[in-house]
Amino acid sequence: MCQAPTVLYSAQQIHARVSELGNSLSQMIPISETPHLIAVLKGSVIFLADLMRAIRRPVTIDFAYLSSYGSGANSSGAVKTFSAPKSSVRNRHIIIVEDIVDTGLTLSSLRNQLLDQKPQSLITVALLTKPSRRRIDVPVELIGFTVANHFVVGYGLDFDEKFRQLPHLAVIDR
Ligand code: PRP
Repeated sequence: MCQAPTVLYSAQQIHARVSELGNSLSQMIPISETPHLIAVLKGSVIFLADLMRAIRRPVTIDFAYLSSYGSGANSSGAVKTFSAPKSSVRNRHIIIVEDIVDTGLTLSSLRNQLLDQKPQSLITVALLTKPSRRRIDVPVELIGFTVANHFVVGYGLDFDEKFRQLPHLAVIDR
């Protein structure tokens, strides 16, 4: 049984930070290029929807469906790819959109899959990072918020598939 989540970052704080991330991404990709955003399902869908509108140029999007967690809060340690992006990434400027980098295993797996396809560039933007939980060294070029070892829900992130619809980020005390 877990208690009601307590607010970690408000919807207003998230909106302001996502705007900053969009500005940074706009400056990182050459002006003549159309960045291709690949969002990791399911947790990053709300982040993607806001971030893509904060990038001041045309973008294209696709999705990768990977999962490293079993049910509940503990990572299984194994990453399963349910669905790879359908679009070609070869010679394109790819931006991986992640909601949270925890152990780093999911991101590392996706990066390796994409790098095999020879993109022009590959960067990752993560709304959250939890460095204390990292099990593999993986680059994350842009980060929204660094969080301690709390279980965070809301704004797309879940606990047993619940709380994804919260407009803010919150912590569950278990
Ligand atoms: C979560 C989160 C990241 C990943 C991070 O996804 O959305 O994709 O775990 O964990 P890691 O760094 O330890 O690999 P999850 O597997 O829970 O699926 P979901 O996004 O569908 O909730």
